[in-house]
Amino acid sequence: MFPTDLFRDRKIVVGVTGGIAAYKVCEFIRYLVTRGSQLRVMMTRSATEFITPLTLETLSGHPVYRELFPQDTFSATQHVNLADWAETIAVVPATANILGKFAGGIADDFVSSTLLAAHCPILFAPAMNHHMWENPFVQQNLERIRQAGHEICPPEYGFLAEGYEGMGRLARLEYLIQSLYRTMHPARDSLQGKTVLITAGPTREPLDPVRYFSNFSSGKMGLALAWEAFARGARVILIHGPIQLTPPFGMECVAVETARQMHQAVLDHYQDADWVISAAAVADFRPKRTAEEKIKKSGTPMQLELEANPDILATVAKERRAGQLIIGFAVETHDGEKNARRKLQEKSLDAIVLNNPLEKGAGFAVDTNRVTLLHRNGTRVELDIMYKLDVARKIFDFVLEQSP
Ligand code: C5P
Repeated sequence: MFPTDLFRDRKIVVGVTGGIAAYKVCEFIRYLVTRGSQLRVMMTRSATEFITPLTLETLSGHPVYRELFPQDTFSATQHVNLADWAETIAVVPATANILGKFAGGIADDFVSSTLLAAHCPILFAPAMNHHMWENPFVQQNLERIRQAGHEICPPEYGFLAEGYEGMGRLARLEYLIQSLYRTMHPARDSLQGKTVLITAGPTREPLDPVRYFSNFSSGKMGLALAWEAFARGARVILIHGPIQLTPPFGMECVAVETARQMHQAVLDHYQDADWVISAAAVADFRPKRTAEEKIKKSGTPMQLELEANPDILATVAKERRAGQLIIGFAVETHDGEKNARRKLQEKSLDAIVLNNPLEKGAGFAVDTNRVTLLHRNGTRVELDIMYKLDVARKIFDFVLEQSP
């Protein structure tokens, strides 16, 4: 899960409608509380059959809105006030009923009235029985909602409360946050129509059937870049080595193991790409021979012969077509800027992102990074320490500004 400061102090209304997946909204609200969002929750009457308002009041720290005409207030315009307050509304889970009401312009309870009065982007995360999901009227309603510029986080295939498998499970938390990030992005759709290819994570270079050489890369920076490109409306191709993270949804993910496989996957896809961002920590060397059987201890020192892997980024940059933007990373523990500038030039890149894994809060595996951005036009921007997703946003802003 990516922490980000994009949600800090932002006014977010969470709408909960009546499906069994309603219990999962607690984790979503909790995530937003930890990110420092200003939260208000509204529930339909059916939602309160599945989960109590007290649970969501406790998690959000505010009373839950439920009634259009509450007994304890003189105001009959609370739904309009809340709609005016909201910077975003996230309906999690969204039933077929609320989708139908919203697409049909119906406002007959607090949640549907607030949605209709809203003038901000709305995220719907549908969850329902798979026959309901496949119903053409539901699909038409979703299409209308999409056409109106709102965001849909599609449900997943899996075990349903009905006791069998099908399409209709609420999207997992990572996907909900990925969708919310896109819904709230200040430059949403700024890369509409573009294709962005990203390499991420480490590679593994096998020595024998049970051992390999690798590095400490977690893939977090690369996946954060993939979230960022997705949020900006790009078609994303993510080519990643072995990682422990959930691959994002809504993009083409290609899983590879070795540098040579990553090289091949990049060659297969890069022609289509308008941007190539190489965030992978590709192993520079591999064992010259991979033993077919496990290498046994012999009691004597062992000599290993290594050979160089192909430089994927350099190959792509050399064969780039006009208009293609190529961005690399430089992980340096000493003489960082000198080495990064040399790589920028030698690999003929448009920009390079320099980081030092020995600095606190930077480099491999952690959620934050501290980078310096260098452009081939000489521009240099040093960023403070920040979450990797926020670094990713700055990298895209930087490249868009410097390479118009
Ligand atoms: O030369 P160096 O390995 O430090 O360059 C780092 C940049 O090159 C990173 O963007 C990395 O993803 C890329 N790279 C590559 N193929 C390699 C080695 C590095 O694409 N074999």
